[in-house]
Amino acid sequence: MARTALVTGGTRGIGEAICVALKDAGYSVAANYGGNAAAAQAFTGRTGIPAYQFDVASFDAVTAGIQAIAQDLGPIEVLVNNAGITRDGTMHKMTHDQWQAVIDTNLGSCFNCSRAVIEGMRERGFGRIVNIGSINGQAGQYGQVNYAAAKSGIHGFTKALAQEGAAKGITVNAVAPGYVDTDMVRAVPPQVLEKIIKRIPVGRLGKPEDIARTVLFLVADEADFITGATLSVNGGQHMY
Ligand code: CAA
Repeated sequence: MARTALVTGGTRGIGEAICVALKDAGYSVAANYGGNAAAAQAFTGRTGIPAYQFDVASFDAVTAGIQAIAQDLGPIEVLVNNAGITRDGTMHKMTHDQWQAVIDTNLGSCFNCSRAVIEGMRERGFGRIVNIGSINGQAGQYGQVNYAAAKSGIHGFTKALAQEGAAKGITVNAVAPGYVDTDMVRAVPPQVLEKIIKRIPVGRLGKPEDIARTVLFLVADEADFITGATLSVNGGQHMY
């Protein structure tokens, strides 16, 4: 029977590409989204993948959302913690709200979603968790103390949970994308983005599909000896 996969922030950008790659590989996929209902509806129309609205930053909303998905599609065996936001600004201008929103949405979500699925994975003796980190969590980035801290936290979270899951058939890995052609990266001021692209040895932005193929590789049943790893997919921009 097809394994059930949940991709948070799954209706746009990198998340959408991951959903489509998983569906094409035979998984039964659920996409989560935070607030953009029109985009979610269009996504479901394009892909046939159901979309579930809940705020990944809220523990209670996640618990209810994941219960609803399990009722519809069966217990979640593959979790991709992909949802993320930016609230960029230099430290001296950053508000506490900008800090907290990014920590709660990008890092708190990994706890909330993993906590909601981990007991079932342990009972069934199988699980795949992939957390989407970032080059900016590895290298830091001017104007992103909030985002870099959250993404860096994801890499520590991955290694700790990987140790806990290893004896139970649960692998936990991270993918660290570089600059990928999505709405998030298109929001970077053009003159700043131009300079960033010049620093990518491969000479282009990443494509969402570049990240999706990496996730697909890590969640395969056969990838059971890969755990606690971070795969950097950044066109050579940062070699870690
Ligand atoms: N290193 C050093 N100095 C820098 C710099 C950098 N990377 N970027 C900007 N500066 C300098 C500028 O040259 C400028 O200096 P002067 O005043 O001496 O000219 C000063 O900092 C102020 O720069 P801005 O005018 O840009 O300041 P701002 O307050 O208007 O904006 C900012 C600051 C919001 C951080 C803006 O520069 C920005 O948006 N930068 C992009 C940040 C970024 O890369 N975000 C990634 C988003 S995508 C993502 O996160 C996905 C992923 O995982 C990769």
